[in-house]
Order: sequence, then C-alpha cells, then structure tokens
Amino acid sequence: MIPVQPLCSQMRRDLVQVLALCIAACLLGPQACTRDVPGDKTTTLVFKHGKIAGDPGPFREVILQFERENPGIRIREEVLPAATDEQHQFYVINLEGQTNDFDVFALDVIWVPEFARAGWLKDLTHLLPAQSREAFFAAPLEAVTHTGRVYAIPWYIDAGVLYYRKDLLEQYGFGPPKHWHDLVHSASVIISSEPELYGFLWQGKQYEGLICDVLEYLWSHGGDVLQGNRVVIDSAENRRALSFMKDLIDTYRVTPAFVTTATEEPTRHIFGKGGAVFMRNWPYAWNLFQRDGSAVKDKVGLSPLPAAPGHRSASTLGGWQLGVNRFSRHPREAERFIVYMTSYETQKLLSLTIGYKPTRKALYRDEDLLAAQPFMAELYGVFERARPRPVTPYYMMLSQVLQPEFSAVLAGIKDPGEALRAAQKQMEFILKIEESG
Ligand code: GLC
Repeated sequence: MIPVQPLCSQMRRDLVQVLALCIAACLLGPQACTRDVPGDKTTTLVFKHGKIAGDPGPFREVILQFERENPGIRIREEVLPAATDEQHQFYVINLEGQTNDFDVFALDVIWVPEFARAGWLKDLTHLLPAQSREAFFAAPLEAVTHTGRVYAIPWYIDAGVLYYRKDLLEQYGFGPPKHWHDLVHSASVIISSEPELYGFLWQGKQYEGLICDVLEYLWSHGGDVLQGNRVVIDSAENRRALSFMKDLIDTYRVTPAFVTTATEEPTRHIFGKGGAVFMRNWPYAWNLFQRDGSAVKDKVGLSPLPAAPGHRSASTLGGWQLGVNRFSRHPREAERFIVYMTSYETQKLLSLTIGYKPTRKALYRDEDLLAAQPFMAELYGVFERARPRPVTPYYMMLSQVLQPEFSAVLAGIKDPGEALRAAQKQMEFILKIEESG
C-alpha cells in the first residue's frame, strides 16, 4: 500500500490558493479564464471545427493572415473529432445550454435547418444579399436557408466521387467504370492478379457517412427515399441497390468485410498507401494523395461514381458551412471572420492546400486551380448535380432510424426487404411528427 502523507502546511496553503483561484474563475464564468483579458482591447474569437485531415499548417496560416489583417481580433481554434455525428452531439448539448464558449463554428450541410429552428444560429442574411447568392452552388445555398433567411455561409462543398488507380487500370486495359458492374469486373480481374490489393473501399460503418454512401447506390439504381413529402424508401429499386452493396462484399468479393466498420479516413489511408484499386470518398483526399512522398502520387484518377445500366450516376451532397453561435458575445467580429473564410481568395487557398472544394462557382474557372487540379472542371458538374439528403429540421431523426437498418443489411442481420419495410414505417412516423409540429 502507498502510505498517505499528511499535507505539509506550505502545500496546504498552495492548495487553498489554487482552489480560491478556481472558484473565482468559475464565478466569473468561462470568459474570465479563457478570453477577454481586462485592459486588453483584443477580442479572442473561438472557432470550432472538425479535425483537418493531413497537415494543419496551411490552415493555420490562413487564420494567421486574418489576424494580420485584423489586428484587434485573435482566433483560437478548437478542434473537434472528424466524425460529423460526434460534432453534432457536442453542439446539441452545448447550444441547448446556451453556451457562449465558442463564436464561429463549422456546420455540416444537414444541420442548418435543425439549428436555425432551435434558435442557435445568428441570422446572416445581410452577409449574402440576393445579388451575391448567385456566386454559390444552389444546393448548399438552399441548405443554409431556413424560412427564407440565411443562417450560415457555405464554406466548402463535398460530393461522393470515385478514386481509381490510373496506373493499374491502364496496365490491365480498363477505363474508369461507368457502370457498377464494370467496376466489379475491373476490380476482380486486377485483384486476382494482385491479391495483396483490395478491390473497392467505401464507408460502411453505422454512422452518417453510411447514409451518404447508401443514398448513392439507391439513386444510381433509380430509387429514392422521399418524393415530396411521401416516403418511397420501400421499393424494388432500393432492394436491388442494397443487395448490390452486400454482394460487393459477399458475392463479388471486391470489397473487404471490414468496410462495415470503416469511415472516410481509414479507407483513405489504405488507398493512400497503395492498398486498393477503387475507393469512394469525398474530394479532399486527392490533395493528400498528391503530397510529396505519397505512395500513390500521380497514380490516382477521380471520376463520377458509376451507376446501374439505364440510370444516372449520383453523388450525395456534403460539405460544411460557417455559422455564428447566437449566444456569442462577439457577433460582429465573428461575421468578419466568416466573410474572410468564405471569400474567393480563402476558398482558393484552402482548395489548393488542404483540398476543401469551393462553394463559389467562379473558382472552377480559376486558372491556377485548374492547372493544379485539372479534374476541377469535371467536379463542377458533379457538385451541380449532387443530391441533398432530406432538407428538414428533423433530418437527424431520419438518419438515426436509417443508419441501423442499412447497417443491419451489410452485417447480414436483415435482408434488404425487411430493413426497407422497417425504414419506411419509421420515416413515415417521423414525418408525421414534423407535419404536426
Ligand atoms: C463529409 C461531408 C458531410 C457528411 C460527412 C459524413 O464530412 O462533408 O456532409 O455528413 O462527410 O461522414
């Protein structure tokens, strides 16, 4: 046993002093210990966002530039985990408690209606007057607009894309696949000669990313989840789409079973080490593949996702927006920071460095960007056509019921028909609440 020493009197005095300081700090509130030092005219804004994949250096540099241009404002970054579900949980808990611990934060494209309705976002309509709205892609703009007011500014856009190994496809005489079965065929041929490779990686863990992936299969098989307000998820097209996803793992064996636990980053790491022929992911990954020292530098191509014959390729719209916490004590400075972060120049820099794709359409004609990332021109079309998840304040409830159903199919616990029937009932129930609410 470790002997317990009585505290010497000096230690006791120190302890009392520390406790007194802590109590004073708590009584004065979090601002007192973290920000707004008395006599100092500098305002410190706390900027919360998800973890950035790769080197955070260039991102920090963009923020330092803002501080140089705005000597009275300091930015303190506070980084949350990369997973959107975890970030959502953090914001719901803290904003419900009307926290002012942070001023500016990044919102997933699916959250704005929910947060605006709850009264957690400052109205930013004046930052995007009608004439400047046309500069942005329409879908993210719609996502940040709730009851006719703008509650966040589109910062970067995402859509699901197919990454492929140019070198391997060329070597085996294949082009980028247009149809899902072309992908299965090319992947099978290549991995039978190169057994150390995986054929096709995607995100199959039970989380928000799974919804994004599944929707792309439903849509590209001619299915859907909603038609207007009508739930249409229990359909033959959707059954075929979900069966195909499961077949990728069990029947065609081009997708390893571990995708049922995979999110974006693990799949990106494996593909980036040269471990797979194809991968579905968001566009950010390309810059990381092109870094010096990358095992796949100059070997990666990017294209729209395949579709079932007779149907169109479909990508889920993703992306992040910047909003101001309505309880922030520094709304004017927060707005100034958002205007800077979503400007043409900053979006261009972030696209060139960390691969965040601009929400401003003119950047897809920017010569520097096109020279550095020639696929930008093709991405423009993918972003224009990207399809949103249901835009409703109740979206997270829909997602929470769909995630376990889709996951049960991939894990072999339910067959697609059973899962889709259950999803149909639960979605109808939630949308009834929405109508009556
Ligand atoms: C990306 C997308 C976001 C989506 C998430 C799912 O961050 O931008 O919209 O919800 O991935 O994992």
